[in-house]
Amino acid sequence: MRKAGAKKLIYLVVGARPNFMKAAPLIHEMKKEPRFLPLLIHTGQHYDPMMSDSFFRELRLPRPWMYLGVGSGTHAEQTGRIMIEFEKICLAKRPGLVAVVGDVNSTIACALAAVKLNIPVAHVEAGLRSRDRTMPEEINRLLTDQISTYLFTTCEDADRNLVREGIPRSRIFFVGNVMIDSLQKHKVLAGKSNVLERLGLKRRNRNDRYALLTLHRPSNVDDPAVLKGILKAITDLSKKIHVVFPAHPRTIKHIRSLGLEKTVHFMKALPARGPIKNDQNLITVPPLGYLDFLRLMSRASLVLTDSGGIQEETTILGIPCLTLRDNTERPITVKEGTNILVGNDPGRIMRTASRVLRSQRFPPKRPRYWDGKAARRIVTVLKARLL
Ligand code: UD1
Repeated sequence: MRKAGAKKLIYLVVGARPNFMKAAPLIHEMKKEPRFLPLLIHTGQHYDPMMSDSFFRELRLPRPWMYLGVGSGTHAEQTGRIMIEFEKICLAKRPGLVAVVGDVNSTIACALAAVKLNIPVAHVEAGLRSRDRTMPEEINRLLTDQISTYLFTTCEDADRNLVREGIPRSRIFFVGNVMIDSLQKHKVLAGKSNVLERLGLKRRNRNDRYALLTLHRPSNVDDPAVLKGILKAITDLSKKIHVVFPAHPRTIKHIRSLGLEKTVHFMKALPARGPIKNDQNLITVPPLGYLDFLRLMSRASLVLTDSGGIQEETTILGIPCLTLRDNTERPITVKEGTNILVGNDPGRIMRTASRVLRSQRFPPKRPRYWDGKAARRIVTVLKARLL
């Protein structure tokens, strides 16, 4: 029998950068329920200060209760290390629920370790499918959804994907998008960021137009020919418009190994106060914090990316987004939002970017339940099922 007043212990797992903005609204909402005891477990998949620590500060995430420190490695090494370390924690102190978000290696590793111990798993952002099994995230999504007890979805096409894969409807809950919860909550604060001044994009009498680029998918950065092609398109684009490129550590590593640091005007750091001493049209900087990036995204004329979450954020912000992939697990951002799939062909990237820059701005769209209340809906479901 459960002790009177005993709290339901929940392990909420984070590991990589895109997890933090999804976990923040969840833990804040879970903490409002006195019968829940949510504890944050950080696998350490991402460990650079700008890939992890800065997000804890800006999103007011509590310090992780446990830090597994697994770091980088091959997929099997990383996934295996997370499973081994996370299982130890579950055995030492068994939770009533493990909650995982997104589709990174930490997501599947912790879900798998938990489910083998018969601990129920909640997957937040379930049901997204690119149908491209060469993407590591697609494998993580498919497997996590198959073994999870509660599947929380961001859109109705995700529900349909899950039903098609044999998941009982009783496990699927369409609740909306927790990443948009974070965006709504931090939009005003992000408006106070001085990142535009530091990048020299906001001068006394004019606001310069700029495009914002992010790039980190193995399919775009690991193959030198593909990476060179994309960078060529970006260099051409920068003749028309400023391009700001906060680069992921993986991408920086590949740019360095190709000796292209000078071509992309890589700056090791942004000054705390601006403006930078770099009058190039293409500026590559290390990864930015959440608020600075949100500010940059919301004022951009165009975003080019291969990220998943950015396709959703630009949809809500009404900023045109060119996705440098052939497919997306988030088709709602193409159907209802501002997203255009362009792949990684340099000519097509350049042509589409030029067309978008000439055209009118898209009016902001709001897919159903992308309203800042997704975490609240999730906690309502969990309360009804777990308490
Ligand atoms: C991971 C996720 C991806 C997500 C991305 C966001 C998987 C399979 N992939 O990809 O879905 O979109 O995070 O950033 O989980 N590195 C550092 N410092 C860090 C982290 C990584 O230098 O803090 C470098 C290392 O060289 C590492 C490489 O980046 O080998 C890749 O990191 P990894 O966590 O394996 O995958 P990501 O590409 O970041």
